Amino acid sequence: MMINRQIFLCAGLGAMLMASAQNTTTRSALFSEGDDMAKAKPEYNESGMRMIDITRPWSDQKVNGVDYGWYRIHLTIPSSLVKGKNFADYIQFNLGPIDDADEVYLNGKLIGKTGGMPGDAGGYRSAWSVNREYAVKANDKSINWDGDNVLAVRCYNGNDPGGMFGRNGVTVTVPELIDGVSIGFGKGKNGKETVTVSNRYDKSIKGSLTIEEVDNETGKVIGQSSHKVSSSAKKPGVVANLTPGEGSFLRVKFTDDLTGKDVVSRSHPKFILTPAAPAAPRFNTVEVYGVRPGSPIHYRFGVSGERPMTFSSSDLPEGVTLDPANGALGGSVAKRGDYTFTVKASNGKGTAEQRFTLKVGDNIALTPPMGWNSWNCWGLSVTQDRVVSSAQALIDKGLADYGYAYINIDDGWEAPERNADGTIAVNEKFPSMKELGDWLHSEGLKFGIYSSPGDLTCGCYLGSLDHELQDAETYNSWGVDYLKYDWCGYGKKHALEPDRRATSSYIRPYMLMGEYLRRQPRDIFYSLCQYGMADVWKWGAMVDANSWRTTGDITDTWASLYDIGFNRQAGLAPYAAPGHWNDPDMLIVGKVGWSDNLRDSRLTPDEQYTHIALWSLLASDMLIGCDLAQLDDFTINVLCNNEVNAVNQDLLGKQADRVVKDGDIQIWSRPLSDGTHAIGVFNVGGNDLNVNLADYYKALGIVKLQSVRDLWRQKDLSVSNTDYFIPSHGVRFIKVRY
Ligand code: GLA
Repeated sequence: MMINRQIFLCAGLGAMLMASAQNTTTRSALFSEGDDMAKAKPEYNESGMRMIDITRPWSDQKVNGVDYGWYRIHLTIPSSLVKGKNFADYIQFNLGPIDDADEVYLNGKLIGKTGGMPGDAGGYRSAWSVNREYAVKANDKSINWDGDNVLAVRCYNGNDPGGMFGRNGVTVTVPELIDGVSIGFGKGKNGKETVTVSNRYDKSIKGSLTIEEVDNETGKVIGQSSHKVSSSAKKPGVVANLTPGEGSFLRVKFTDDLTGKDVVSRSHPKFILTPAAPAAPRFNTVEVYGVRPGSPIHYRFGVSGERPMTFSSSDLPEGVTLDPANGALGGSVAKRGDYTFTVKASNGKGTAEQRFTLKVGDNIALTPPMGWNSWNCWGLSVTQDRVVSSAQALIDKGLADYGYAYINIDDGWEAPERNADGTIAVNEKFPSMKELGDWLHSEGLKFGIYSSPGDLTCGCYLGSLDHELQDAETYNSWGVDYLKYDWCGYGKKHALEPDRRATSSYIRPYMLMGEYLRRQPRDIFYSLCQYGMADVWKWGAMVDANSWRTTGDITDTWASLYDIGFNRQAGLAPYAAPGHWNDPDMLIVGKVGWSDNLRDSRLTPDEQYTHIALWSLLASDMLIGCDLAQLDDFTINVLCNNEVNAVNQDLLGKQADRVVKDGDIQIWSRPLSDGTHAIGVFNVGGNDLNVNLADYYKALGIVKLQSVRDLWRQKDLSVSNTDYFIPSHGVRFIKVRY
């Protein structure tokens, strides 16, 4: 919790504005493109710089495709600001978020840095959504009290939009001592929980710490303790040896003795809700699969249970094969029709059967695609080895047993030049696409690739412009089963087209590639990526697309998840149907990073349960975006819950709609093929809440509730008590019959 007193803001462009104690906001600065460290110096000659708005990214101001840019902001910092204050040891510069990485200099001295620039030790790392708050000691010699100060901001932009875009511009505040306090959770050497009260400032703060242990399912407080704590930058306050139970978290409040102000926080243990799968075989994938006549079949039965396991069928249709060791279905069927047969899976613990129908006809992707894509983890540093390692982990860690089947290479595989005959070539990181495809198919998995209708992709690799048919044929020869076709470089061509404002101009490049893909003698899932322009959901199916991205790129923050998942999907349900899905972008669980540097997803465990529940309700593509070789038990638990996955894969193919939006409560509901409904009761606010489903029966159309099942916990709940504890950013995901 920040309780800054906003005291003063002022910026000038050459001419300084005078100091004022009012709440003014600095919204503009001097700007120039290019990287030159001399711009950090106060004496830099600014004659080549121009004015720019710092509340909007630079790409909104005709600065496009620029990597480095510098801002210079002139400020007067009046000494009166810090006089007579109880605590006035620091001043703080609040710059808002910056796309993507920055360094900030006050009169030539580096005072803060966020994200990573290409030349940094860890390389490029975007931190576009992080608010920049840089504190400087009030006795720092670099501050020119009552005179002109230059705040020089060096920005690196990996991908437009770029630059500073804090809605409030730049503000200067004098923080209170408690503003430097934050609460952290960890484990001591003995494995017991600790709560740490840290203080950014080197003046000690004293207060009391109240720790509550809260049951994660019911929200009931099951334990409480109070402690006296003092904390300074040199010596944080620590309360150790706490022992909360398995299914509970800690809710903590630190209250400053002097001011009575407080800071609250809670722990986010990685609590696992999905019950372990039985050792005996269990089919987790739906009993229907669509393939076109004559196309090669690449399908793997998703069956959990101890390995080794053997697969068999006594009534396979003619032309269809079944690999007894991995459950991969192969071969092809020339004649249209529904072919039903029984598949048996056996291991040392038992046998399971599935009555399965191969639907040979025009429609593929009868359920949303499940699999993996390289982008959210490796970004442009993807290699064939990394792809193989994730595919192998998909099998070894059991994700294939839950239906995850696509292994998709995103941008970064293309060579700088095409071959002499115009065919697309791979770069040195990809020794052989054909071998990769063959191996994936031998495991019953599917192979995906990426291109653009433009001359260049978003990562500035070669696109398919003027080579569309040739590329579709190459993909076929490599055994490609999925194409993500990303607008990016096409924007330049589009801007010159006479009908560029008409929807037809957006459809054209996608129609062309759609036709060429259909000419190939194999099924290629066609995934449009153009961020939702021209209401793509209204015409995607017309160009034979199997899914279309509805928004810009997702990242692993609550703000991004909330905007993309909740704000932008409402109203899109009518456009999803078997074969054609809305795609709110790839999953942001596990180790992600968009580069060589991976980190744990910044989503809390509750946010991750929300993410997967919402994507299941939305009948969205389920493409995992993390390094599968580094999967932990928590991530496996959110990805491999057969009852949750079954909502995503439900054969009715009806996407959820938002039925209730009541303050921080949102309820999304979708009908399922067995006559029940899947319902997500979400708490999108910052406070834990209790929600009684009964209050919303009317909106949901519930007259009499017959059954309720908690899908994450896989257990039946009472129909008479529907009062649910829903943590901040969390969900109660249920399946109900009424
Ligand atoms: C765009 C897409 C991403 C990814 C990158 C690759 O940003 O939206 O999903 O494919 O391009 O450069």
